[in-house]
Amino acid sequence: MMKIGIIGAGFMAAFHEKALRSVRNVELEGFYTPRGNDELAQVARKNKLGNAKMYKSVVELTKAVDVVCVVAPNFARLDTMREIAKGVEGGAKLKGIIVEKPLARNLKEADTLVRIAKALNVPTAYFENQLHMPSVVQSRLQLADVEKAMGPAHLARSAEEHAGPHKPWFWDPTTQGGGVCCDTGCHSIACGMYMLTPMGKPVDFLKPVSVSATMSLLKWGSKPWIDELKERGVDYAAKPAEDYSIVTLQLKNPETGQRSIVQATNSWIYDAPGLRLFMETFGPGYSYTVNSLQSPAGLFISDTAAAAVTDSELALEKSQASRGALVLQPNETDLYGYIAEWIDALDAFEQGKDALLNLEYGKLITMLIMSAYMSHEKGKTIDLTDPSVLTELEDYVPLIQQGKGNEVL
Ligand SMILES: NC(=O)c1ccc[n+]([C@@H]2O[C@H](COP(=O)([O-])OP(=O)(O)OC[C@H]3O[C@@H](n4cnc5c(N)ncnc54)[C@H](O)[C@@H]3O)[C@@H](O)[C@H]2O)c1
Repeated sequence: MMKIGIIGAGFMAAFHEKALRSVRNVELEGFYTPRGNDELAQVARKNKLGNAKMYKSVVELTKAVDVVCVVAPNFARLDTMREIAKGVEGGAKLKGIIVEKPLARNLKEADTLVRIAKALNVPTAYFENQLHMPSVVQSRLQLADVEKAMGPAHLARSAEEHAGPHKPWFWDPTTQGGGVCCDTGCHSIACGMYMLTPMGKPVDFLKPVSVSATMSLLKWGSKPWIDELKERGVDYAAKPAEDYSIVTLQLKNPETGQRSIVQATNSWIYDAPGLRLFMETFGPGYSYTVNSLQSPAGLFISDTAAAAVTDSELALEKSQASRGALVLQPNETDLYGYIAEWIDALDAFEQGKDALLNLEYGKLITMLIMSAYMSHEKGKTIDLTDPSVLTELEDYVPLIQQGKGNEVL
């Protein structure tokens, strides 16, 4: 039985609680949040997931569990990891440390996280759920023999789009790390790269050659949307971030020299039913498509009945409407790969190993995200084969992340 401790008890922690109901041999020992609010712990206890109590500190929680999972806001990553380290130095016998996406706000932070985890000598998992989406994994498996016969895929388009985050700290580029490129571009770049990676090769097999990106503030910087944000405690006149981002990542197969391209599109302006993950991968003579809004289930709620709807988000993450024809996804934890990422991580930790995606991999994704911001800022393609560019990226903090988005948006 693996005892799990979750740091953070907000939106994503609630998804993890739900996912863990479908994972065997786990006990949710507890949560830590600075305010100690125990609503999610109550839900977990009700679902018979374990003790699920609130701990007073990260150190205490770390000492009580086998695995800690960091699902706190991005700005708290470093402090949280330092507290986990104190717990381990104080005698905690951790089998694994999990960190949610994005690993960090910039490369310097990512590097510190990786170095702390290495020094602790504890296996790690970087939670990037989209690589574990059953629709992506099964499409790859189904096409494995075709890929072998015809050659690896050469173009992947990957998108995550919705109408904007739920909490002010996501909108503030200084606390979150940027706008939509940092928030969900990390998913689409990672998943796109994975969809191009030949079967059986490691997740970092393909070598990044170049990144070019365009970011823009298309909707939320204008009235009335900017006023709506202000009411929610977000000042986009002073500290804007991008609500649209398109990144082109060129990759090279180190064995064959074959070039491939990831096109990652992300937006917070998707005024459509709700969150959509859209992926397509093209190889010579084959392809596959994933669209998370295609569901076997659909609802219809008429105008006369609409007043009775209390929480449309129970039907679909980031649902935008509560009447008319609505999409319902009956099992989002499975659809998005949350269950599969837990199973992968816990299986690996049982064997004393890193998960499929470890913190080093998270750092690679951070590097690609930073390259995208640099490309937008400089208005040029970033050459990732140039050692001086890689050195520059190490300390680079995007202007948007510094709260100076007005200079580049
Ligand atoms: N994989 C995904 O699809 C996905 C989706 C949403 C969020 N996320 C990631 O999950 C993380 C959390 O996002 P969220 O939507 O749950 O945010 P949230 O604001 O809903 O919840 C954050 C939680 O962390 C707690 N917290 C605040 N400061 C803390 C601190 N210093 N130490 C520990 N806990 C603290 C809060 O009390 C809250 O319980 C983010 O890194 C986000 O990028 C991932």
